[in-house]
Amino acid sequence: MSEHIFIGVAWPYANGPLHLGHIAGAYLPADIFARYHRLKGNKVLMVSGSDQHGAPITIRAEQEGTRPQEVVAKYHRQFIDCWKRLGVSFDLFTTTGTPNHTQVTHDVFLTLLNKGHIYKDKMLQAYCPKCQRFLPDRYLEGTCPNCGFIKARGDECDACGRPLNSGELKNLRCRICSTAPRFESSEHFFLRLSSFQEQLADWIKRQAHWRNNVVSTTWKFLDEGLKDRAITRDLDWGIVVPQPGFERKRVYVWFEAVIGYLSASKEWAKIQGDDDAWKAFWQDGAKSFYFIGKDNIFFHTLIWPAMLMGYGGLNLPYDVPANEFLTIEGKKLSTSRGWAIWLPDYLERYEPDPLRYTLAANMPESGDSDFSWHEFLRRNNNELVATYGNLVHRALTFAYRNFDGAVPSPGELDERSQGLLRQAEITLESVDKLLDRCGFKEAMKQAMSLAQESNRYLDEQAPWKTIKTERETSAKSVYTALSVLTALKTVLYPFLPFSSERLHSFLGFDGTVKEGGWAIQFLPPGQTLRQPQPLFLKLDEDIVAEESSRLDSLNESKKAES
Ligand code: MF3
Ligand code: ZN
Repeated sequence: MSEHIFIGVAWPYANGPLHLGHIAGAYLPADIFARYHRLKGNKVLMVSGSDQHGAPITIRAEQEGTRPQEVVAKYHRQFIDCWKRLGVSFDLFTTTGTPNHTQVTHDVFLTLLNKGHIYKDKMLQAYCPKCQRFLPDRYLEGTCPNCGFIKARGDECDACGRPLNSGELKNLRCRICSTAPRFESSEHFFLRLSSFQEQLADWIKRQAHWRNNVVSTTWKFLDEGLKDRAITRDLDWGIVVPQPGFERKRVYVWFEAVIGYLSASKEWAKIQGDDDAWKAFWQDGAKSFYFIGKDNIFFHTLIWPAMLMGYGGLNLPYDVPANEFLTIEGKKLSTSRGWAIWLPDYLERYEPDPLRYTLAANMPESGDSDFSWHEFLRRNNNELVATYGNLVHRALTFAYRNFDGAVPSPGELDERSQGLLRQAEITLESVDKLLDRCGFKEAMKQAMSLAQESNRYLDEQAPWKTIKTERETSAKSVYTALSVLTALKTVLYPFLPFSSERLHSFLGFDGTVKEGGWAIQFLPPGQTLRQPQPLFLKLDEDIVAEESSRLDSLNESKKAES
């Protein structure tokens, strides 16, 4: 029976390009998962969008001397282009700037307000008398109480990484004009998160299938005791608060960004021409998965579930398989210090599948992991080219040249050949199980070991030798190898969609890999093959030095600037 799988992926701030940390953290695992479920015949709805509100956007606009709207439009376009080129197959990638999103946010806000989960109260807010505006945390600067760094931000210290409240900073000042702010009382709305403490704790206890890091991070917050959270701010960039007297305030970015999962689903339904189509993904019988980086766990395992509990009638997350961080060449990734590999740059120079492969092989699933250009080169040349690509090329070119460009007739299969096909079946089953519970790294490892085993089979069988004396034996081993390729194009499709589609076509199939389903595909003897081309290209050793110096120079130029 086919299942409904909802996949929500973290909404990237549209204030700068995507980098490999984003991809390894959330977008690649989400896409692998979506492709796997589609191939299994399940109904998938995968959504996300540009997070276009909040201080990250307005600060960037001020730095560039433009308006937030322009910053957002530029990066939103760039994101969409990147998804296409990297093969991240969203069913909808929208933005938080649509009228639909505002409408759904207002519905959630007002429903929670009517049910008593949101209340009004006063709070002290920093106000800059010179700039004549309220200052959100990121607009404040001061001395870090932890490490003494004098330019710590109001929400976090860049030097020691400690999360802060602006109240803790010494020598507090406005980041724009350096004036000391004064504190003024201002009226805001608060989410009564404290009242969900018990219900959330009970629910978390039942999530035995969640990753350890996600459960333990969530318990840290629960153990401290959940506090009510302000969900409006004194700002003019963001979603209007649907209450009189709040004209100069906006909904806090985190409160509305998570609502994006629901609003995007409704927008998708409208585009399908069936306004209710989203319900099958949000109500009984469906499962929802949220792919995010570890810094977003609190919002997805506590805040969003509390909002959903309060709203009622919608599914809570089934799983939140948050990843840890990706380091670059052994160092912590930092966009402000220029230590990052930007996705648009990567895509200018290389193919998408080798990146997907390297990041999946090193996915930060249970701890931080590292990306290095040396590792990228090694994985491309030794694993994609020399193992998988070589197998595909040997089997296909041999069949193409020696059997008139068609699939040979196998005759009766011997033990060894049947054994390899059985192993292909077993691999399909085990990769299936692993992907079902988001074990991406191990799934890919097992898929690749089938390629290794098939190479051994071809070496042993040596059809290029038997072709001269025992044409039938040669045909049998070539047929077996080609059949295993139908399993490989399937188990590797979630990871390497571009090469799987090409392999599908070389094998003489029409349509797409998806149509073959999650199975060894029957290869009709006599099926016309298409002229094979290498699946992967060998990369020159020099790229390691080139890319390393590119990284260093970006890093240096940033240092000189600040
Ligand atoms: N924009 C946030 C970030 O980049 C993520 C928002 S995820 C959402 O950290 F669920 F809130 F949308
Ligand atoms: Zn100021």
